[in-house]
Order: sequence, then C-alpha cells, then structure tokens
Amino acid sequence: MSPWKHNRRILFGVTGGIAAYKAPDILRGWRKEDCEVEVILTSSAEEFVSPLALSTLTGRKVWREKDFLSVEEGWKIPHITLTEWAEVFVIAPCTANCLRICAQGDGSTLLGAAMLANRNPLVIFPAMNPNMLGNPAVRANIDKITSMGHTVVGPDSGMLACGYEGKGRLPDNSVIYEHVWNALSPKKDLRGMKVLVTAGPTHEYIDPVRYISNPSSGKMGYAIAKAAWYRGAEVTLVSGPVSIPRPEGVRVIDVVSAEQMYEACIKEAPEMDIIVKAAAVGDFRAEEEIKQKLKRRDGEPLTVTFVQNKDIAAELGRMKKEGQMLVGFAAETQDLIANARKKMIAKNLDMIACNDVLANGAGFASDTNSLMIMTKGGSEVEFSGTKDDVADSLLDAVIRKKNKE
Ligand SMILES: Cc1cc2nc3c(=O)[nH]c(=O)nc-3n(C[C@H](O)[C@H](O)[C@H](O)COP(=O)(O)O)c2cc1C
Repeated sequence: MSPWKHNRRILFGVTGGIAAYKAPDILRGWRKEDCEVEVILTSSAEEFVSPLALSTLTGRKVWREKDFLSVEEGWKIPHITLTEWAEVFVIAPCTANCLRICAQGDGSTLLGAAMLANRNPLVIFPAMNPNMLGNPAVRANIDKITSMGHTVVGPDSGMLACGYEGKGRLPDNSVIYEHVWNALSPKKDLRGMKVLVTAGPTHEYIDPVRYISNPSSGKMGYAIAKAAWYRGAEVTLVSGPVSIPRPEGVRVIDVVSAEQMYEACIKEAPEMDIIVKAAAVGDFRAEEEIKQKLKRRDGEPLTVTFVQNKDIAAELGRMKKEGQMLVGFAAETQDLIANARKKMIAKNLDMIACNDVLANGAGFASDTNSLMIMTKGGSEVEFSGTKDDVADSLLDAVIRKKNKE
C-alpha cells in the first residue's frame, strides 16, 4: 500500500438506506490503513446501524442529528469543524433523500450543512431500489451533483436487499476505497490528459482449444493504468486475457490475440497524449487457423508454422503525433541495456522501461518489479518496489520527460 494512503482524515456520512449495515465494515478498511474517520449518521441511518458499533470502530464519538445545533467544547460548530478537519468527504450509502439535499444545497440537517461547508473532494455512493434510481427526479439530482464537480459512483447492478434485481446496489468496499484513494491522491498532474495502457499477454490460437502465450499476469500494466487514473488522467486499458480484477475508473478494451490488440491500439492511439505499452504481445501466430481440434496422431510429431505478428510498438512509433509520448517495455533475459536501447531507437519510442524477467522479484506475475528506464539521449534510472510504486515512478519519469519537451 502506498504511503500516502495511510493516516488520512476521512469524514464519513452514513444515510438511511438498507446498505447502511455495511458502514462498519467500510470504515474498518480505512482504520486498517490508520486513517482517522469521523462519522455523521442521519436519524434514519440510526435505524439501520448502531452509533455504538460505529463509534467503537472509529474510537470517536459519532455525530448525530441531535449534535447539529449543539456546540461541543473543543469542536466549535460541528458541521464546520468536521469539514475543516477532514481531507475527503464520503457518503455511503447515500439515499435518494440525501441526493436531493446535496443537489438543492439544503442546510437544514447536520449532514446537509456539512456538505455546504465542505471544501474537500466529495465522493457519493448512492444506493436504492432500481425504481427509485430510475425516477427522473433522482436522475436529475445525480446530474446536478455531478455538474457541481462532485464524484458520484455507481450504483452497481445485482441482487438488492429489497428483493429486486437491478441497478441500485452499493458497490463493493474495494471500489469505494479506490475512489476515495483517487480523491486523496497527492498528484493530479495528468488531469486533462488521455492515457492508453496495454497490459497482459496475448493468446495465439493454434486450434480452437490450444494457444501459445506467455506468463504475463497484467499486473504491471494494470498498476500503471490505476496510477494514471489516480493522477487524474482519462485512461483506456487494452487488456489481453488476465485473471486479476479490473482497475476502477478505467475504460477497458478486452482483446485476446496480438492482431486484436494491434487493431485496438491503432484505433485509440490518435486521441492519446501518453501511450504505455506494458503488454507482453505474442510475436508469432500460427500461419494456418485450424478450425477443428487437433488429434493425437500415433506418435507422429506435429509441425505448426508460425508467422510474425504485426509490430504494434513500431506502428505506433510511425504514426506518433506531435507531443505524444510513447513508452515501451522490454522484457529481456540478456544484454538488458543494449537490447532495450536498440528497441527504443528502432521503434521511435520516447522512453523504454526494461526488466530482466529472469531476476528474482521482477517480471512476469510477480507483485514486485525492478525497472531500468531510458530515454533517447538520457541516462538510465533504476527503481524497484511493488508494481504500484514502480508504476508511479514510471509516470513521474514520463511527466519529467514530457515537461522538458
Ligand atoms: C426498510 C427501508 C429501507 C430503505 N432503504 C433505502 C435505500 O436503500 N435507499 C434510499 O434512498 N432510501 C431508502 N429508504 C428510505 C429512506 O430511509 C428515507 O428516504 C429517509 O428519509 C432517508 O433519510 P436520510 O437521507 O436522512 O438518511 C428506506 C426506507 C426503509 C423503511
């Protein structure tokens, strides 16, 4: 976990939807990161979750409606002091009623007044019955809140506590945390930029049930996509087949083969300010597409002819537009620096990140990585750590290079 996710100050509004029963579990996740949490609980929410449970988990008093018009020693005026203290304001679950309060700027309750006094990022997670969510009044309130510059996330689709199936569920805790980390992220230097990241392996099918591939897990590319989203970019991720969770806030284009990855990248590239090619793309595919499953042939060997796939990085290098940064990856097993530099020049890349995939704690599937970064004419920089840390350092280097040009 990145150091900036620890010890943050979160103001947590809990409103009277059935999903309020999840509030203690949500705040436990923040407490595990040593974040301090102040809770404002609406009167309706008290019917669903006990103030005692919440205050036990925060180690603090829970702010209730009865506290609104009282001034506690050392706290001055609750709605003002709480918002001054916090770094982010999260409302989960947020009822239809609370959406209205926010959209209208209604300051007649503690939570409503706190939303008016708040100057921090406000991240709202509505949760309600699908019919309520589809109501034009609720839709209009969500649109208004979004246009006010606040973040409204979800809701998710699935089985709801009210017995309905549809859109209205509070997203999983992991999604809530990601949006809060995004709001708290200290660097927003990619705001207004479009970033394309490729990740994962490709599968090159020999017959309908067999393919050649490589052990890429997609973790490095996914970490870069997430880091770019944290830093404010609009991120598109072209992903080969992987089994790790999708990063939040990122548009994902799923592909299987190198040819599909090529098509997706060529289509998306002209719009992009930065392209990071972290996928482990198959260099070869079977020349002949065998339509039926190959059978054993009494010990006879199988010969498959492989032809070369199109070179995505080289094509992106050829079509690179003015000011666009193209960053490649080189997974090497020998002559790291020389091979990576050759690749960077040949493919017209602005930067290349290379790693020795045979080294311990680096490369495929590992949670950590060690990268050597080179720019044309620039010196080499090396950094290692978790893939999240390495992704962030890589983006630091990309921004440094972009600012120099
Ligand atoms: C059992 C029950 C479950 C409810 N669940 C929700 C819900 O999930 N979402 C919602 O917007 N309202 C829900 N409501 C309605 C709210 O509780 C009601 O609008 C209340 O005034 C909200 O107050 P608050 O926004 O101040 O917390 C529910 C009501 C009941 C009786």
